[in-house]
Amino acid sequence: MAQIGTDIIFAKKVLEAGKPVAIPTETVYGLAANALDEKAVSRVFEVKNRPSFDPLIVHLSNKGKLDELCSHVPDNFYRLYEAFCPGPLTFIMPKSKKVPGLVTAGNPTVGLRFPDHRLTLDLLGSLDFPLAAPSANPFGYVSPTSAQHVEKQLGGKIDYILDGGPCKVGLESTIIDLSTDSMAILRLGGLSLEEIESVVGKVHRVKTSTSNPKAPGMLSSHYSPGKKIVFGDMEDNYRIFKGQKLGSITFFRTVNCIPAEHQWVLSPGGDLREAASKLFKSLRETDDTDLDVILAERFPDEGLGRAINDRLMRASAK
Ligand code: TXA
Ligand code: MG
Repeated sequence: MAQIGTDIIFAKKVLEAGKPVAIPTETVYGLAANALDEKAVSRVFEVKNRPSFDPLIVHLSNKGKLDELCSHVPDNFYRLYEAFCPGPLTFIMPKSKKVPGLVTAGNPTVGLRFPDHRLTLDLLGSLDFPLAAPSANPFGYVSPTSAQHVEKQLGGKIDYILDGGPCKVGLESTIIDLSTDSMAILRLGGLSLEEIESVVGKVHRVKTSTSNPKAPGMLSSHYSPGKKIVFGDMEDNYRIFKGQKLGSITFFRTVNCIPAEHQWVLSPGGDLREAASKLFKSLRETDDTDLDVILAERFPDEGLGRAINDRLMRASAK
């Protein structure tokens, strides 16, 4: 079983031995390995059961050694970095030769991110290599937002989980592709479209589909818990599914007709940030019930509400 603790020196030793360690970030927990060591990285794919066509994000503590990993750094990187990093934003940029092909799944680009978590920043600062880290969940399942979530699913397969408490943001990073002339958002996440556009102007959103995902991990059936999730108009769906054991996920309201203990109200005060931070925990909790169907309502299509809707839609695509 994995040990859980806050020992950065031990985490460093495990990583230096070429083994994966789960690390906290402000978004979700990651399963980290030395990004420059193909063997260490291949263990991450194994533990997660992740297909090798799905590239990993490389985590750094600051932009100091960026030139070693990227062959070209566009101006918009610096604007966004100054405004939001460390923070929940991943940059796709042209890769250098130093980044192993396994990390980028053969792509000529690399995803880079500067996570905002004290323990992980200290760990990164103590290492002389960057960390490749996908979310620390089995492939296709909901991302973990606590050390206990990681323990439950991957605890038997890894040595150490660095426990940084519950994740503040609770949604994966927003991914922006800066590798072409037209900037594009490949994944909505913990940094809103509005915040990004306030710094670099209009960016477009790439619609992903199962048949043609631009970011290969953005399959439409990602983030699925075990339960059947039905996403959309609560009243319409209630009429369709009544008679079955129902639960609900809502923003701030409660639903008549569904027992209080089967309702997940993500932010009674109507705060999208709070709702985002609770979403994945709630989806996991639905798995520990005997409910048949979870009805999830559509959140406001603004700020983090867009990313919440994106995850709920994927969770409902089975
Ligand atoms: O918040 C996060 O981003 C978390 C924490 C641990 O940092 N990480 C995370 O990793 O969500 P993962 O592997 O679960 O999702 C990363 C996504 C995948 O959809 C992958 O396809 C995409 O990033 N990605 C990584 N490198 C890419 C590249 N070079 N080009 C296009 N997409 C890339
Ligand atoms: Mg993931």
